[in-house]
Amino acid sequence: MDGMGWMDPQKWADSRKIDTFLEYAAQVREKADVFVLIGVGGSNQAARAVIEALRPEGGPRILYAGNNLSAIEMNRILCEIEGKSVYLNVIAKNFETLEPGAAFRILRAELKKRYGDAYRERIFATGTAGSSLEALCREKGYRFLEFPEDVGGRYSALTSVGLFPMAAAGVNIRELVRGALDLRKELERNQKEDHPVRAYAAMRNELYRRGYRIELLAYFEPSLYWFSRWWIQLFAESEGKEERGIYPASFQCTEDLHSTGQFVQEGTPIIFETFLEIGDTGSSLVIAEDEEADGFAYLAGRDLDEVNRLAAKAVKEAHEKRNPCLEIRMEKLDAYWFGRMFYFFEYACFLSARLLNVDPFDQPGVEKYKKILFAALREEKGGKEKYEA
Ligand code: PA5
Repeated sequence: MDGMGWMDPQKWADSRKIDTFLEYAAQVREKADVFVLIGVGGSNQAARAVIEALRPEGGPRILYAGNNLSAIEMNRILCEIEGKSVYLNVIAKNFETLEPGAAFRILRAELKKRYGDAYRERIFATGTAGSSLEALCREKGYRFLEFPEDVGGRYSALTSVGLFPMAAAGVNIRELVRGALDLRKELERNQKEDHPVRAYAAMRNELYRRGYRIELLAYFEPSLYWFSRWWIQLFAESEGKEERGIYPASFQCTEDLHSTGQFVQEGTPIIFETFLEIGDTGSSLVIAEDEEADGFAYLAGRDLDEVNRLAAKAVKEAHEKRNPCLEIRMEKLDAYWFGRMFYFFEYACFLSARLLNVDPFDQPGVEKYKKILFAALREEKGGKEKYEA
């Protein structure tokens, strides 16, 4: 089957490749105030998930572009990079997607205006071998990183696509890859069906058969927001086809308890929940005594982190009275555990899609709106091809 290159993380993230990512990342970290990651869907979500969760110190500010067509957003980015030393990483598997294409054009023009011919040193491009992006790199002298042909965007966390921008932001990518490799070895050693990865894939399919149509990824650390977005894309694009699949959605606690929580608890019974539990957040904050009669005296001396844990327990207890609730544990919020989680969900998603009898690696529906949009853009340009515009 095509698209299986993610299965062995070493294939695209061996020590030599990691050295290259780190070498390029060091150049960026030394010279950039701002590093703009241009990409959409699988071409930016994994890096963003880890960078935004860990927020490593030092190094450039990371901005994200090429994931929408909003002039408001792009003008904001142009304002934010004003007067700063800027480097770009454009990531596109076949370099036809409109959003990153448009953003790359706009930002490249800005770089040319500012740095003259030296603009080229500031561009790193991640694309497939033989793509038009690679040809552009050769012609213009941009640094080129290979986007593996046998890995789809949403499975590309542990390749140049995810690892180089993570390294530029200061994430320990060796640890991240080690986490994924450890889980792979574990799966090889333990072939049993009750290994959590296999059990998760089997359980969600069983729940689907029983009529559950929505899976909520419930988490209690808002820094996992972008990770939940990565997870949503992984499952939605891999499974939602041929009129089948579970709709994946996120449930950010405790905030969402005060909005969608009511529906989750008592609305149409088609939801099951997967609680992403964190063993050790590495954070603690004891709430001080306070003589003001604010009605919250019971909080004095308690650790906010502990209160959050109690909330997680309480929510699960309340919800599981009605909804099936699964639990996945991430021991720590660090690079190693993100590596494990990427591999955990990629593997589980692959198995789950196979159980559902759909192709985990295609996304035929995504193409449909593009055709209409490109036709509309060509029409307005008097029938010219989009690349001539
Ligand atoms: O997972 C996928 O394959 C998609 O979500 C792609 O990552 C996304 O459409 C971006 O594609 P490209 O990198 O070709 O611009």
